[in-house]
Amino acid sequence: MTRVFSGIQPTGEIHLGNYLGAIVNYVALGRALGPDAIYCIVDYHALTNPVAYDRELLAERTFEAALINMAAGLDPHSVILFAQSSVPETTELCWILTAQTPLGDLQRMTQFKDKASKLESVPAGLLMYPVLMAADILLYKADTVPVGEDQAQHLELTREIARRFNQTYGETFPEPQLYLNPQAPRVVGIDGKSKMSKSQGNTLGILEDPASVWEKIRQLPDDPARIRRSDPGDPERSVVFKFLSYFLPPETLTPLKEEYRKAGIGTLLLKELLFQEYLRFTEPIRERAAWLRAHPEEVWEALEAGAQRARKIARSTMDEVRDKVGFARLPQHARR
Ligand code: TRP
Repeated sequence: MTRVFSGIQPTGEIHLGNYLGAIVNYVALGRALGPDAIYCIVDYHALTNPVAYDRELLAERTFEAALINMAAGLDPHSVILFAQSSVPETTELCWILTAQTPLGDLQRMTQFKDKASKLESVPAGLLMYPVLMAADILLYKADTVPVGEDQAQHLELTREIARRFNQTYGETFPEPQLYLNPQAPRVVGIDGKSKMSKSQGNTLGILEDPASVWEKIRQLPDDPARIRRSDPGDPERSVVFKFLSYFLPPETLTPLKEEYRKAGIGTLLLKELLFQEYLRFTEPIRERAAWLRAHPEEVWEALEAGAQRARKIARSTMDEVRDKVGFARLPQHARR
C-alpha cells in the first residue's frame, strides 16, 4: 500500500455507520500515510444524483463534509483533503478514459441499473459515474481504495480501465485494490433490520441533537420475545445489545448479557447506558465540530491547501497522459 485514495459524498450529516465503516479507517490510514492518503469530496459526482443535488446547498455540503471529517480526526495538514471540482484535470482524464470504455461495461453496472430504473429520464452522467470515479483514482495513481463492498464492482471496472489504458499507451497506472477494513463493523440501522443508511432513514447522526438521539434509542427494538420486565431475554436478538457492542468491550458486555438472559436487567437501563456511551463517544467529535463551525476559515483554508497539493499531482499525471495519448505538444504557456 503506497497511496490511498477515497471519495466522500457531500451528502448531509454523517451517521454512526459512515463513521465506524469509513471515517475511522480514513483517519487511521491518514496517520500511517500522511500526504499519500488522499481524500476527495466528490462534488462532481454529486451532480449525477438528481434527487440529492441542490445548487443552493452543494457548496455548504462540501464544507460540511470537510468539517465532519476534520472533526472526526482527519488532519488536513498531513493528508490531502480537497473538493473534486477544484481539480478540473479530473474531468479531462475522465473524457480520455471515456473514449476507451465500452458502453456495455457501463450499462451492466448494478448501481447504474438500480438508479436508472427509478428515473424517468436517465442523465448520461449516471452512466459515466464509474468512469469519473476511475479518473479520480487513477489521476493520483492510487493503489489502494478504502471503500465499502458496494463499490467493489466500480473498482473492478477501474482496474479494467487502467489495464486498457496501460495496454494502449504503455504502463502508466497501477491497478488499484479494494481495501475493506476487517475491523469495521457492519452497522445496523435503528430499525434493527437493514444496514444503517441515509436512504433507509434509519440512522443515528454523529452530530445529532442529543434529545433526538435519545428518542431513537428509547425506541430501539428489544428481543421481541421479551414482553415483561421479568421475561428472560436473548441478547443476540436485541438491537440494543447490537448497538452496545459498537461501544463497549466484551469484558463489559458479557456480564450485562448474562444478566439480561436471567431477566436481571431492564431494557430501559440498557438504553440509558447506550445513550451515555453514545454521547461519550461522540463528544470529542461534537466539540471539534463546534470549534470548526466557529472558525469556518480553517475548513476553507484546508480545502484550498488540499486543492493545491492535489492539483500538483494531477497536473503531473496529465502531462504524462497527454503526451502518451498524442495530443499536440504546445509550449507550456499555450496549454494552460
Ligand atoms: N462512488 C463512491 C461512493 O458512492 C464515491 C467515490 C467517488 C469514490 N470517487 C471515488 C470512492 C473514488 C473511492 C474512490 O461511495
